[in-house]
Amino acid sequence: MSALLDVQALDKHFGGLRACDEATFAVERGQIAGMIGPNGAGKTTAFNCVAGFLKPDGGRVTFDGADVTGLAPHRMFENGLVRTFQIPQELDTMTVLENVMLAGERQSGESVWRTWLSPGRLRREESALEARAHAVLEQTQLGHQAYIRAGALSGGQRKLLELARALMAEPKMILLDEPGAGVNPALIARLADHIRDLRDRLGLTFLIIEHNLDFVRQLCDQVVVMAQGRVLDIGAPDVVLSNPEVQSAYLSGQRT
Ligand SMILES: Nc1ncnc2c1ncn2[C@@H]1O[C@H](COP(=O)(O)OP(=O)(O)OP(=O)(O)O)[C@@H](O)[C@H]1O
Ligand SMILES: [Mg+2]
Repeated sequence: MSALLDVQALDKHFGGLRACDEATFAVERGQIAGMIGPNGAGKTTAFNCVAGFLKPDGGRVTFDGADVTGLAPHRMFENGLVRTFQIPQELDTMTVLENVMLAGERQSGESVWRTWLSPGRLRREESALEARAHAVLEQTQLGHQAYIRAGALSGGQRKLLELARALMAEPKMILLDEPGAGVNPALIARLADHIRDLRDRLGLTFLIIEHNLDFVRQLCDQVVVMAQGRVLDIGAPDVVLSNPEVQSAYLSGQRT
């Protein structure tokens, strides 16, 4: 079976800096893949190239069997690949439910004048959107928080809300950039459970950048290690993390 995401020799340069340097890796369908590496290794750059937020300078990205290299984010989104974003502060005063509905509304691409000309249709669409938002909140175990303000959520719940917003796109694959950052260590294990649960129940595929190696070890089927723009190793977490080359890349830290 072919990989859901296949990245071949991805290049992205910022001036003279090779942020991604012939990076090659693949993620199988239904896999929870991790991406690790020291600061500045090119992880976020690789993500952004895959999700369409940056145009690669070279290489090929294949998603679900189609060449998607350089497609804009909304096209990747329509293809079923989404990356999560931190909830902007302006949305803190809205309820959890409204936050999720808003994510779905932006996605539906409905033009305002059409719904204005047809208020009955707007109401129908609103209630369909609301029903879908409730379903997504159940999937992320946020159902009982639907009517509280997003700003009142804990760090871990806020991460779940980011996931819920991404789920409104009915994606095949979700990219998460440091979901454990700022989350209480006790809640990180719960976040891992939620992600595994979404994979098991919805068949979702994940690629997760994370510095917390315990989280990676607990959760990931496969780990891609990046260092200085290159993929240094790929494999099962325990194998990769005991690779001396990987350990020394971490110890040496920043790019030279
Ligand atoms: N827009 C940009 N313009 C110029 N340089 C950039 C830009 N984005 C990233 N870089 C540089 O590219 C390199 C890779 O950065 P990137 O953010 O991809 O690393 P990372 O692996 O995500 O690091 P971290 O773990 O700190 O998040 C770094 O040296 C960074 O300074
Ligand atoms: Mg980063």
